Amino acid sequence: MSTTKGLEGIVATTSSVSSIIDGVLTYHGYNIDDLADNATFEEVVYLLWNNKLPNKEELETFTKELAQASTVPQEVLDQLRSFPIDQVHPMAALRTAVSNLALFDEEADEMTEEANRRKAVRLQAQLPTIVTAFARIRQGKEPVAPKQELSFAANFLYMLNGEEPDEISEKAFNKALVLHADHELNASTFTARVCVATLSDVYSGVTAAIGALKGPLHGGANERVMAMLNDIGDADKAESYIKEALENKTKIMGFGHRVYKDGDPRAKHLREMSRQLTDITGESKWYDMSVKIDEIVTNEKGLLPNVDFYSASVYHSLGIEHDIFTPIFAVSRVSGWLAHILEQYENNRLIRPRAEYTGPDKQEWIPLKDRK
Ligand code: ACO
Repeated sequence: MSTTKGLEGIVATTSSVSSIIDGVLTYHGYNIDDLADNATFEEVVYLLWNNKLPNKEELETFTKELAQASTVPQEVLDQLRSFPIDQVHPMAALRTAVSNLALFDEEADEMTEEANRRKAVRLQAQLPTIVTAFARIRQGKEPVAPKQELSFAANFLYMLNGEEPDEISEKAFNKALVLHADHELNASTFTARVCVATLSDVYSGVTAAIGALKGPLHGGANERVMAMLNDIGDADKAESYIKEALENKTKIMGFGHRVYKDGDPRAKHLREMSRQLTDITGESKWYDMSVKIDEIVTNEKGLLPNVDFYSASVYHSLGIEHDIFTPIFAVSRVSGWLAHILEQYENNRLIRPRAEYTGPDKQEWIPLKDRK
């Protein structure tokens, strides 16, 4: 048996949801640059789940379905209030709340395609309600009920802040959601597929995926990028900080990628958004510092920024608390997880690889009383 650490380069499934070929990311064949510049998040979710862009009527119907499904059962909201809010990370709260949603969904274990699609709509619609409700509850504020007439992006910012966003913020947030929606067989998507390949339910798949996304080597990196920017404080201090970190073999969050070696195609969009938004907020220091770090890490290590690097200063400029950055990733990526879950069910086989054994052999049983 031979092994490949981290399954690097292993093709573990076929999929028609999204692809990364020669460094180009597409969602069902549509280049991410076109989607980032033109699509609403609702259109992208429809595309990922239906393998086609919606026409006007289909989009209206789908948008309505999402809006109507966004109210979270009161019991799940009440449970959020019972969490030890001073110590619970919003990703942990989200993971538990999504698992809890299943308990209040009569269809949770109904495995027909129609029922799974209905659950997909509910999950996509309810994650933003949960994330924003938790963010407000821990500030001692009441959750804000979703407004059905707002876009998905505007509704998130409305439920978070209690007021409707301006057009620039809505557009920027929509673009961030589009850029994070799917990404081939990334760690959390693979987790979701492994989970549902046992024929476990959709809620279990999404709960498992949230757990995988939470880690700092995956979605958890965006929050840590902002912590690093805060630590550095000023572009002039970036060089010494980064060089010292690299000498100490500390990973610089938001850089490097398993698949892209010539750069993550999503990063340039976030970089430009960071430039524009920090200009508007009058805090271009975050953008300047990020660009400086980008130059240093590229020169010193040949590593390029990934999707998480510039998204930190983008979300910060939208006035979002730093530990909500990764939950926002989940609010978007759940669309991709659900697309892959539906695809896995369509043509399922248990995912069960092998491990090369490296432990001792031929051990002799020792009764408990004789053990040292
Ligand atoms: N900072 C410093 N060095 C790095 C970084 C980094 N961000 N990323 C990779 N390296 C170095 C490693 O130390 C290693 O060096 P070595 O060969 O001297 O030991 C080499 O580059 C290869 O790195 P691996 O960690 O083996 O690469 P892998 O493909 O396993 O990991 C990953 C990819 C996890 C993204 C990695 O680059 C990393 O940890 N980046 C920082 C965390 C991050 O930004 N995660 C978000 C990824 S995008 C996403 O999930 C949304």
